[in-house]
Amino acid sequence: IPIAVFASGSGSNFQAICEAIEAGKINAKIELVVTDKPDAFVVQRAESKGIQVLAINPKNYASKECYEDAIILVLREKKVQWLVLAGYMRLIGKTLLGAYASHIVNIHPSLLPSFPGKDAIGQAMAHGVKITGVTVHFVDEGMDTGTIIMQKAVDIIDEDRDKTEGAIHAVEHELYTAALQKLLN
Ligand code: GRF
Repeated sequence: IPIAVFASGSGSNFQAICEAIEAGKINAKIELVVTDKPDAFVVQRAESKGIQVLAINPKNYASKECYEDAIILVLREKKVQWLVLAGYMRLIGKTLLGAYASHIVNIHPSLLPSFPGKDAIGQAMAHGVKITGVTVHFVDEGMDTGTIIMQKAVDIIDEDRDKTEGAIHAVEHELYTAALQKLLN
C-alpha cells in the first residue's frame, strides 16, 4: 500500500516505519516524505533510504488550501493512499482531510486526551504526572483530537526529561509499527 510520511523534525519515527517495512512487518511502501522544513534531519534520512522528498514551504502559497492542493498533486501522482504524520508540526486543513478522509494518522507523545499540542512531554512533567504515554490516532480538524487507534503507557522516569523522552520514543517506534500493521496489513 503506497503511503506518505509527513514530518518536520528528526524523523526517528519515519526511520522506524521504514525499517519495519523493510523487515516485512508492514504491508506498505513509503512513496514520499513530505516536509515543511527543508533542513529537517528527516530529509537526510529519507535521501539515504532513496525515498523522494517533497519539501514545501507554506509561506510560498497564498493560502493553506493552495499549499495542501500542491501537496495533493504529488500524492496523487504517487498514488498515495494513506498519510502517516510523524512529527509534522502543522494542523492538517480541510483540503487534505477531504482528499484523504479516514486515511490520515498521527502519533502523539501523551495519553490523549491529556496534553495535546506542542511539547506534550514537557506538559506532562510540569503537571507532575507519574505516567504518561503514546497515542496513535486518526486525524481530524482538531489538535490531536481524532479517534484513538492505540495507546501505551510510559512511566515518567526519575523526573528526568531525557530519560523519559528516550523511553517514549522507543515506545512510539513500536506502537506506530503495531498500529500500521493493524491498519494496512
Ligand atoms: C514524536 O515525539 C511524535 O510523537 C511527535 O513528534 C515527535 C517526532 O519525533 N508528534 P521524530 O521526528 O519521529 O523523531
